[in-house]
Parts: sequence; structure tokens; C-alpha cells
Amino acid sequence: MSLYPLVHQFVLNAFRTQPAMIKHLERTEYWARTLRPHIDEALRCAAVAHDIERSEPNSETNRPFRQSPFQNKDALVYHQRRGAEMIGAFLHQQGIQAKLIQRIKSLIETHEVGGDSDQDFIKDVDSLSFLENNLAYFMENLMATHGVKDVIAKFDWMYERITDPTIRQLAHPHYLEAVAKLKTNQHSNNP
Ligand SMILES: [Fe+2]
Repeated sequence: MSLYPLVHQFVLNAFRTQPAMIKHLERTEYWARTLRPHIDEALRCAAVAHDIERSEPNSETNRPFRQSPFQNKDALVYHQRRGAEMIGAFLHQQGIQAKLIQRIKSLIETHEVGGDSDQDFIKDVDSLSFLENNLAYFMENLMATHGVKDVIAKFDWMYERITDPTIRQLAHPHYLEAVAKLKTNQHSNNP
């Protein structure tokens, strides 16, 4: 049996109360397979599970990272590493081959910053799906705690980190629209 449906179901279960997260993750995988039609299974699994860390409830361990500015380096490192650990534990339980587990973990462990060309690709399709889908979620759920400036900084960073020129071009209209809406919101709250 192919591994992808197993990982997809794991993600659906983990985020059953967070439909916006499921949409972001499924669209990340959609863009990955659309932009690279011969994509291997490890890339598809990493794309759909890259934010699995966000499914953990708030705890003493993750709360300081979740409350820090979005671009806090330690928070980004924690998010990537913990996500890799979680997917690793799940795949291990399923009896998946160690080499494949390691590859999926290595893609998730770097999805915020990239690295080699596959790691950059996961980072880029994450950004594209984020800019395409996540504005409403951020406005409704994270603006009050983080403030509009931090949210705008997050959208700027998600766009600017894209390496691939084709993916950057696809993300550009979504980025412009999101930042325009965030700035309108900022000015209407601070006339
Ligand atoms: Fe993401």
C-alpha cells in the first residue's frame, strides 16, 4: 500500500478540529504534485504533514514559542524539529523503512528555512499555499494576540523566502492582496 493515504489520514485525524489547517496542508500537497508531476512519495508526505507540530495542544513546552513573534528563530526551529519528531514516531509505529522515515523527517525539519533543492521546494510550496489560503485564519485568530505588524511581517517573510521564480510568480498576487487587506485593517484600527 502506498504511504501517502496513511499520512494524509494521520493529518486529518490530528487536525480534525482545525479545518483551516487541513486546507493549508492539502493545498501544499496539491501544489507540490502539480508543480512536480513526477514527485516522489516522501515529498508528498512531507508536504501534507509539514505543520503537524501545530496539532499538539498548548503545553508548557510549546506555549512560549506560540506566544513569541512569528519570526522568532527559536520558535521556528522548535516547530520544524518537533514536527519531524512527531511524523518520525508515527511512521516508525507503522513499520516504515528507516531510510524513508529519515527522508520525510529531513524535509519537515527544514521546511521553514529550506536547504537542498527538495527542502527548498517544500518551503516554497508551503509559502504558496500559506499566501493563497491563510489570511482569513490569521485575521480571525492571530491578529488579536500578535498584532497586525507581526502578521504583516509574517506574510512578508513567507513571500520573500520563496526560492523558485515560478512559485514566487504564482504567490505574488496572493501576497499583494493579503498585504493590502492587512494594511487596510491596520489603518482602520489606527486612523
Ligand atoms: Fe505551513
